Amino acid sequence: MIIKLNKAVQVLKDGGVIAFPTETVYGLGADATNKEAVEKVFEIKKRPKDNPLICHFYSLEQVKKFVPDLNKTAELLIKSFSPGPLSLLVNLPKNTNLLPATRGKFSVIVRIPEHLLTLELIKKLDKPIVGPSANTSGKMSGTNPEMIQKDLSGKLGGILDGGNSEIGLESTILDCRNENQIKILRPGAIGVLELKKVLERVEILETGENEQKEIVPGAKYKHYSPEIDIQKIDLDKAKELKNFEENIHVILLGSSEDLKNLGELGKNVKIIDLGSKKDLNSISKNLYYNLFKTDKLNQELKLELKKAYLIDLKLGSSSIEKAIKNRLEKVVN
Ligand code: TXA
Ligand code: MG
Repeated sequence: MIIKLNKAVQVLKDGGVIAFPTETVYGLGADATNKEAVEKVFEIKKRPKDNPLICHFYSLEQVKKFVPDLNKTAELLIKSFSPGPLSLLVNLPKNTNLLPATRGKFSVIVRIPEHLLTLELIKKLDKPIVGPSANTSGKMSGTNPEMIQKDLSGKLGGILDGGNSEIGLESTILDCRNENQIKILRPGAIGVLELKKVLERVEILETGENEQKEIVPGAKYKHYSPEIDIQKIDLDKAKELKNFEENIHVILLGSSEDLKNLGELGKNVKIIDLGSKKDLNSISKNLYYNLFKTDKLNQELKLELKKAYLIDLKLGSSSIEKAIKNRLEKVVN
């Protein structure tokens, strides 16, 4: 059910849960200071109880009310990149009322999302809201109301419709607890290159999977997966397969360029065009929706024998490419 801003504020005041738009992905929102409301988010998402929730704020001043000892690096990062696709792990004071969201830890992830409707929502509520991605645990993050309706319909107090998420991949998470050395705990649209431009004397580390799992509990759970198995192949292999086996339905995902390169395909081959490699933002923006469409197609194809292949995008090392690669690694076999 789509709801308007004032209704969304009311639902949150009453301790309910809504889906709200951000520039990365939609979030499942509840008043972060209301223990019962936060528990509902865990129930709705079927989220493991040890997995804390990011808190969303509307301004640096509001963050400081909850994190008075914000260190210089965290403050500089918020001033430079917020509102925007960046989330910061920082320490909480002893008298915090955010423990239901952090699952008892004295550190919280803060983020100011870049979406006017949601900034207005948080401002009107005058409390931070929790915001895990709007999906059942293990499924793909929703980037538009259609995806959320399919996954969570009937479980929410409403969906605040803010259109398609512009970036389409979850925010970059940085460990900012040490102001002299920060760590990238989840890659996103803002990466080392962008961070270096504002942090001159701070060391920036890119962490491996093991360290991510240690600090960010969510990293150890399965993520971003469509229901159908997708196998990665390279363009040459796709050319070799070209018309594939005729008695098998094939879903082929790839860049516009690679798909064009294949020429005419057999009737049994369906295409999901992930977008042009010249427009990486459109690839990231539409990635989860394209995987959602892959599942839809899979369900529509009634024949039993089905296969899905992703033609390797051969991405480079810009921040957005690293983020796309990171999500796709969890999707393909
Ligand atoms: O772009 C985003 O960050 C989206 C939008 C809605 O803002 N939110 C999002 O939330 O991706 P979620 O819950 O799907 O991913 C947040 C990750 C999880 O892996 C969680 O374990 C970790 O951040 N996390 C949250 N609070 C934490 C805390 N206090 N300490 C350590 N890890 C935390
Ligand atoms: Mg998530």
